[in-house]
Amino acid sequence: MKNKKIYFENLNKSNKYFFNEFKKKLLKFEKKGQYILGKELINFENNFAKYINKNYCIGVGNGLDALTIALQSLNLPQSSEVIVASNAYIACLISIKNANLKPVLVEPNISTYNLDTDLIENKITKKTKAIMAVHMYGKPCDMKKIQKICKKNKIFLIEDCAQSHGANINGKKTGSFGDVTCFSFYPTKNLGCLGDGGAILCNNKNYFDRLRMMRNYGSIKKYYNDYDGQNSRLDEIQAFFLNIKLKHLEKINNHKIQLAKIYNKNLNNNFIKPIINLNEKHVFHIYNIRHPKRDMLRSYLLKNNINTEIHYPIPPYKQKVFSKNLKGKFPISDEIHKTTLSLPISYSHSKKDILKIVEVLNKF
Ligand SMILES: Cc1ncc(COP(=O)(O)O)c(C=O)c1O
Repeated sequence: MKNKKIYFENLNKSNKYFFNEFKKKLLKFEKKGQYILGKELINFENNFAKYINKNYCIGVGNGLDALTIALQSLNLPQSSEVIVASNAYIACLISIKNANLKPVLVEPNISTYNLDTDLIENKITKKTKAIMAVHMYGKPCDMKKIQKICKKNKIFLIEDCAQSHGANINGKKTGSFGDVTCFSFYPTKNLGCLGDGGAILCNNKNYFDRLRMMRNYGSIKKYYNDYDGQNSRLDEIQAFFLNIKLKHLEKINNHKIQLAKIYNKNLNNNFIKPIINLNEKHVFHIYNIRHPKRDMLRSYLLKNNINTEIHYPIPPYKQKVFSKNLKGKFPISDEIHKTTLSLPISYSHSKKDILKIVEVLNKF
């Protein structure tokens, strides 16, 4: 008899816990009749800024817009270089392109999947104006070293925390290190909303004022436009849901961490497993393993009714959109893209699910 299907993510099930509170408060929301730039957004921006420990938070339409607007707000000369990991998500590179800047790829560390800090300084030129630190899979980058490099070279630090809501290093949360830091609330994220959503955080009041205007037609006063901004606002209904879910984020993260521990402890050594450092909280947006026969392994799991994903099958520099402009060899990235496999790990998965997956995997 075939095993019960284990999905990669089931948002209906994962969000069930938060929908109860959402439904209870919906009437209050309905009565307010305000859907854009209202009190729910202000509440969420204040709550999230406090949670991350930054002075200001600006809710925007999605994670890509957060990165693009954050980069634009820095007013860098056109074609300035921004250092980013060669295995980062495509949105990171697109945001740099959207802001008329140039991505410069640096290989990740093969064990952490984050920027290899030993390789960064070789890539710094006169045109380098920023480093974008992407906390891949929910594991914090080595922020101490990255901050030191930024300070020494007088360049900006942008954090992409789309996969690391609530992760920390010695208790200091990702998102609290950068000059400007960006989040996505895409539904599958550890803090996901009911559609698209994102946020930018900063400590500097001047940036805050500019960012707030840029997400809203360059305007702070209705019908007065100071910048050629865009329309990218986090909707009231999304902020409303995020306010509810934020209260449970630690619980969501801790659940995922417990599941990751089960994988790490029980999977045999045929699989390369994620590293967990004692001084950090890795929040396992994604739990990946690596295996030389990844595609065969994925088919085998599917035959056993276990769904998986690949983050990501194609490195960004091999994507058509960048293949002409991003030259160079990135063997570490290639190796990751060829061998990585993301296993189910969500708020709705149980310990039993994970033990079942382990049992099947260990027979491969
Ligand atoms: C690392 C990273 N950056 C940026 C984004 C873009 O976020 P969004 O899909 O909300 O535009 C994502 C989304 O998956 C991501 O994982």
